[in-house]
Amino acid sequence: MQGITKNDLIIRIGGEGGEGVISVGDFITQACAHAGLDVYTFKTFPAEIKGGYAMYQVRASTERLYNQGDTFDVLCAFNGEAYNMNRASLKPGTAVVYDSPGDFDPEIPPGVFAYPIPMSHTAKEMNNPRAKNMVAMGAMSILFNIPVESLREVIATKFARRGEAVVQGNLAAFERGRELASALKKIDPWTLGTPKGKQDVIVMSGNNAIGLGALIAGLDFFSAYPITPATEVAIYVAKHLPKRGGTLIQAEDEIASISQVLGASYAGKKAMTSTSGPGLALMSEMLGMAFMAELPCVVVDVQRGGPSTGLPTKHEQSDLFLAIHGGHGDAGRIVLSVESIHDCINLTVVAFNLAEKYQCPVLLLSDGSLAFSTQNVPYPNPDDYHVVERKRWDGEGEYRRYALTEDGISPMVDPGTPGGIHIATGLEHNEIGLPNYTSANHEAMQDKRFRKLKGVINDVDPVEVDAAEGAGTADLGLIAWGSTIGVVREALQRLRAEGYKVKGFYPKLLNPLPVEQFEAFGASCKRLLLPEVNFQGQLAHFVRAETSLRPESYTICGGMPFTPEMIVNKVREILA
Ligand code: COA
Repeated sequence: MQGITKNDLIIRIGGEGGEGVISVGDFITQACAHAGLDVYTFKTFPAEIKGGYAMYQVRASTERLYNQGDTFDVLCAFNGEAYNMNRASLKPGTAVVYDSPGDFDPEIPPGVFAYPIPMSHTAKEMNNPRAKNMVAMGAMSILFNIPVESLREVIATKFARRGEAVVQGNLAAFERGRELASALKKIDPWTLGTPKGKQDVIVMSGNNAIGLGALIAGLDFFSAYPITPATEVAIYVAKHLPKRGGTLIQAEDEIASISQVLGASYAGKKAMTSTSGPGLALMSEMLGMAFMAELPCVVVDVQRGGPSTGLPTKHEQSDLFLAIHGGHGDAGRIVLSVESIHDCINLTVVAFNLAEKYQCPVLLLSDGSLAFSTQNVPYPNPDDYHVVERKRWDGEGEYRRYALTEDGISPMVDPGTPGGIHIATGLEHNEIGLPNYTSANHEAMQDKRFRKLKGVINDVDPVEVDAAEGAGTADLGLIAWGSTIGVVREALQRLRAEGYKVKGFYPKLLNPLPVEQFEAFGASCKRLLLPEVNFQGQLAHFVRAETSLRPESYTICGGMPFTPEMIVNKVREILA
């Protein structure tokens, strides 16, 4: 069986929720990564536990990957619905592996390479109907050269908890799938490139990576209420935090979880919660209290399609307004956003460091795409991270919890410290924490609390400018945030290869906005474009409000992320 080696291959698996689509995607991803390939995945599944369309896309390459790619080279359709959902993307040159005989009889478009595989039939014949997905995976491993030894290892490892019979049954179905595909003539050109060699990497989702980052930062206390797509952060933390002596609570709702987090923070602990848009909305009152009482806390918001219950399992970047300004009164907070799985680890540590140093809430924005996407990242060494602890009282003189210091940061004490008794309250208060509503005091205290935030910009890396060496003024500059950055990175590479003079600007600190860095970037571009996955152009709004720049908005909100091709086409259109 031969094919043209493609160093950047995208395989999309589609089927019904409950048929094991997600498992196949995970297994292929793990096998490719452990064999030494770079991987980036994307998945979308129905809000129902069983039924509905589930999709998993694996991109694997011998080169560095930044996003899930454009469309697929190979489609594996478990049923008619999956085939029909992707029918429009079956362009000449793509390959399709499908269940036959199955619940559908596809009319294959001209130029598409088709491989009928009796997935359901074979699994039933083997008295193991659940293993339909393993038959499909076996067939794909032969057709597209997916590292077979790694796949066998992953099957054995992943099903081990279900017992030896399940492992053996699935391995047998996998081998049967390979036999079935071996009997077919390879007619498409796609074959995965050969990996450089086994790598010491972990394959993590964005949600797990945030959990890992929190542990590296010294997390002591976690409380959250489950909500898609954020729940896996809590699941990851639940597995690891108690072993380190920390505490995790599944609270009765989001108001309770943020309240518990503030209580733990008052008690001297590093504390966090994770949620999605509707949960963040419920937390807004307590975020005001965290700012007022100067309690460090990290709130992770894994954004999903909204408003309201919205599109719970779909991708959107639409909580920026809420993150920055959601709350009553003048309530400040720090807002960071992550680009990649690697960032999910690193910026979570930064979020804790900022929360502890500036004694205020730090909101870390992730999104539905990153939450479930997996990527290989080098195994992180906790010793490589700089971890900040809060400023504590040295016990000298009279303790003033809210002392009006030059930088606005005043010392904290853990409860029980002799001489350190104080009140942490949502009421306006004086330097020792007693309620005080005089206008002079309120103005001095607001000034103190916001004065602190002026230092934040010096504690985060400068915004990355993505420009070719020696690039002068660009014809177009792209500003991107969150997971859209990875898409823009690849689009810029393609555009430069076509001769376009384009640059990228990738802020991770969104509040306070690094205004001077924005201005400098704007000055180096003739025009600016700001693609983001929300209806209103939320970051573009803030950029227009806080800087002299007037970026053009490019917004989508169909529940899916941008693809590099969409950005490339938009730029070509603008610069035509
Ligand atoms: N043999 C034995 N077990 C198998 C198997 C096989 N060959 N293939 C898959 N399975 C198991 C998986 O291990 C998994 O078990 P687990 O849940 O105990 O881990 C289960 O079957 C489901 O398979 P999986 O591949 O993980 O998912 P799927 O592609 O069948 O899709 C989901 C199911 C994930 C879409 C669905 O269950 C779900 O969770 N939907 C989302 C619900 C949600 O979040 N709603 C939002 C509410 S606001």
